Amino acid sequence: MALARKRILIIIGGGIAAYKTLELIRRLREAEAEVRVVMTEAAKQFVTELSVASLSGGKVFADLFSLTDETEIGHIQLSRDADLLVVAPATADLLAKMAHGLANDLASTLLLATNKKILVAPAMNVRMWLNPATQRNVATLQKDGVLFVGPDDGDMACGEYGPGRMSEPAALLIAIEAALRHDTAIPLPVSPHVGAVDLSGMRVIVTSGPTHEPIDPVRYIANRSSGKQGHALAVAAAAAGAKVVLISGPVVLPDPKGIETRHVQTAAEMLAAVEAALPADIFISAAAVADWRVAEIAEEKIKKGVETTAVLKLAQNPDILHTVAEHKTARPRLVVGFAAETSEMLDRAQAKLARKHCDIIIANDVGAGSDVMGGDENQVTIVSEDKIQALPRMNKDEVARQLIARFAELLQTKSGRGSHG
Ligand code: CTP
Repeated sequence: MALARKRILIIIGGGIAAYKTLELIRRLREAEAEVRVVMTEAAKQFVTELSVASLSGGKVFADLFSLTDETEIGHIQLSRDADLLVVAPATADLLAKMAHGLANDLASTLLLATNKKILVAPAMNVRMWLNPATQRNVATLQKDGVLFVGPDDGDMACGEYGPGRMSEPAALLIAIEAALRHDTAIPLPVSPHVGAVDLSGMRVIVTSGPTHEPIDPVRYIANRSSGKQGHALAVAAAAAGAKVVLISGPVVLPDPKGIETRHVQTAAEMLAAVEAALPADIFISAAAVADWRVAEIAEEKIKKGVETTAVLKLAQNPDILHTVAEHKTARPRLVVGFAAETSEMLDRAQAKLARKHCDIIIANDVGAGSDVMGGDENQVTIVSEDKIQALPRMNKDEVARQLIARFAELLQTKSGRGSHG
């Protein structure tokens, strides 16, 4: 378990989202992390020291000038002993103090004195978040290497709507794991810049949906993929000006307007359609391609007979993503795969990145209760060779816009602009 024995210092700021931090502490301890907690004075208005102490299994630190704390551990040591500092919720006030190097209470002093990575989870009213002063502070902190997770868009406790909600504990856990293991950049929502994403002149191929592998004329092997995320990516790429070819397995979604859509049933047909659509600048393999097909498809409907069990012989399907990533003459400049995992998501995503020779893997947890397959929301983590970026849980259309913005950025930094026209 990636979090076992990791020492996490949590700083709870004074915001209504502090209640979510209790759940975060509980989950961190469940994952066997060692948690120490510091609360600001304002935080005590929202959650009690007693509940934090019970959940964290230890003393809560709150006072800069506590003689007992100083003799036992000392505030400099407290900040250095940790593997990671997590500020959740990070209020506008705490962000401002951090950006300006103020140190007038225990929390801000630790943040200034630490030599460890800091991950912040902002939470505040939407106007406070959008205020140029806060945005300036955020930009300063990002430049200083402070990692951000969230804030999410949504209804706020104060009755307004917009960015400002603290990320959910599950997203915070992923961000913490990523921050501990890698040189991460956990981004702010990129929506304000999405309008500026320009893929004009670029060619993008997207696969989407499941494949159906026939057993006989009336039966097939399938999976629960709805095609929503793949189709949304095709739409977002087209909205950014790309010429998109969408290769879709059997889905109930309508073909997106204005996008060339090719329909296939099987993995073999999908591979042929992808190869016919090459070359491209970006290949996005969002389809849930069946790993197996029936070795010999029956020409007639298979009859029950007298046996109470039946055996289907399966043959492995070609790996489309791998084939494209290894293409000798027409490898797209950016090859993106997905990793739908039910456990050990980051490890498996990284293994897949290496095994399939692609540039990026978009990892998502499709375990029971995630409601990702077929659902409208997704929480993805972008895994590349040198970076891991956890995005907040969002609507699949918004996930698609943010991913396309990232891909465009990556292409630009990779080799300057160019295209297959
Ligand atoms: N993929 C593909 N062709 C296949 C199987 C998968 O192109 N025959 C692509 C998917 O579109 C996805 C990525 O590979 O982008 C990972 O798919 P996934 O099913 O998670 O991985 P597998 O390679 O099937 O590995 P495993 O089932 O062992 O997790």
